[in-house]
Amino acid sequence: MINGKMKFDVLTIFPGFFDSPLKQSILRRAAEAGLIDVSIHNIRDYTTDRHRTTDDAPYGGGAGMVMKVEPVVRAIESVKGQGTEALVVLVTPQGVPFSHELAEELSRRRRLVIVCGRYEGVDERVRAFVDMEISIGDYVLTGGEIPALVIMDAVSRLIPGVLGAEESPKSDSFANGLLEYPQYTRPEVFRGLRVPPVLLSGNHGEIEKWRRAESIKRTLRRRPGLIRGAKLTDEDKKLIKELTGSDEML
Ligand code: ADE
Repeated sequence: MINGKMKFDVLTIFPGFFDSPLKQSILRRAAEAGLIDVSIHNIRDYTTDRHRTTDDAPYGGGAGMVMKVEPVVRAIESVKGQGTEALVVLVTPQGVPFSHELAEELSRRRRLVIVCGRYEGVDERVRAFVDMEISIGDYVLTGGEIPALVIMDAVSRLIPGVLGAEESPKSDSFANGLLEYPQYTRPEVFRGLRVPPVLLSGNHGEIEKWRRAESIKRTLRRRPGLIRGAKLTDEDKKLIKELTGSDEML
């Protein structure tokens, strides 16, 4: 890739899936700025038979179709050979759970090849040709195209320059292991619902303190399991003890 920071190559049997999402908003701007570069490759172009077959019935019988090994592996090998060293990722519900932490790790790579399987599965031997498998959650989608978009979106926004200075990902939910604090913009009152006065006070120290406390309260209430993995100050710990009446969470 020339000048770009991150190259994504996506291998799919539904290349049209990516037309619109990559033409919108931040991903489009990032591509225009040369910060990301996405190429979509049609696995069907790597078939060798007259019917351009990408799937077949499973050995041993059973419902559904299985993605054939040869076109997928030919596609991986061809695309891998076309640029800098790449990490090859297969998206599948059987992969390691995707997370903010994994997105950060991937954002430090130069190039990712993402292989979209179909929901009924890919021939097991494909696994010998990928570096890692990622799941975006414990539910089954119709194919790996949406997971590929999820990964590209989450990774791209962490690449320096993709978000404006104003949109820093540093205070994101999960960036510090906690959920984000509540946000408000004008008007001050909407149908009787007021913006918390501290946010109108202009006192930045107090605002910071309030936001941190709200972040902790929200995490305790909604995702208590995250607390143990979060980076907490002594003041945070004191607050958690006050709120829960114990230090069981710490
Ligand atoms: N393919 C189908 N469902 C998936 C999921 N949850 N994560 C990754 N790939 C998938």
